[in-house]
Amino acid sequence: MFFPIIIALVLFTSSSYGNQIEFDYCVADPTLPHGPSGYSCKDPTKVTTDDFSYSGLRTPANTSNIFKFGVSYALVDQFPALNGMGLSMVRADIDVGGAGPIHAHRVAELAIVTEGTIIAGFIDTNNKPFYKTMEKGDLFVVPPALAHFQVNVGKTPAVVYAAFASPNPGVQAVDLALFKNDLPTEIIQKVTLLDVTQIKKLKNAFGGTN
Ligand SMILES: *[C@@H]1O[C@H](CO)[C@@H](O)[C@H](O)[C@H]1NC(C)=O
Repeated sequence: MFFPIIIALVLFTSSSYGNQIEFDYCVADPTLPHGPSGYSCKDPTKVTTDDFSYSGLRTPANTSNIFKFGVSYALVDQFPALNGMGLSMVRADIDVGGAGPIHAHRVAELAIVTEGTIIAGFIDTNNKPFYKTMEKGDLFVVPPALAHFQVNVGKTPAVVYAAFASPNPGVQAVDLALFKNDLPTEIIQKVTLLDVTQIKKLKNAFGGTN
């Protein structure tokens, strides 16, 4: 028991990417331990050009859902070369009339609109909202950990690419956190003051129970 743990620790600390003096890159090996500084490195002799490119954001994500919103991910789990590089990207597709549900990440986000017209915004910790209508080519930055959203206010589908200051930015959507699990309705009612009927309706919509 003891030895494998030591070996795992040594492997992880010696081959994870935190140390830029030691390595040019550290393509993730998802079979090795994953800790606060990322994944351990894939054997460098097996790294090829293909490790450094990813085509998963070419096609629109499926927007057939309640928000008319879909996301394609290029985070470290989809694009292992991002390991230790402190950045990643997603593509969001928002159909006409759709919206990116209010959510937050652990790190800052820098987004660019490449198709359509959206309102993008966030709310700061003084509860002050910041939001603006954005056109193709416009950039928007969201500070770390703040709740933010996008609404398609145009007559065509919108596409937004967003870069994150982490290979694994995390995401917490308010509606999913509240209504897509078994947190009891009674507790949700107490902590939000929402009506029980509304809570039940949203639990039903997002697959929550209790
Ligand atoms: C998109 O998602 C919906 C709902 O999950 C599903 O019914 C539909 O088949 C999907 N469309 C494609 C093209 O995958």
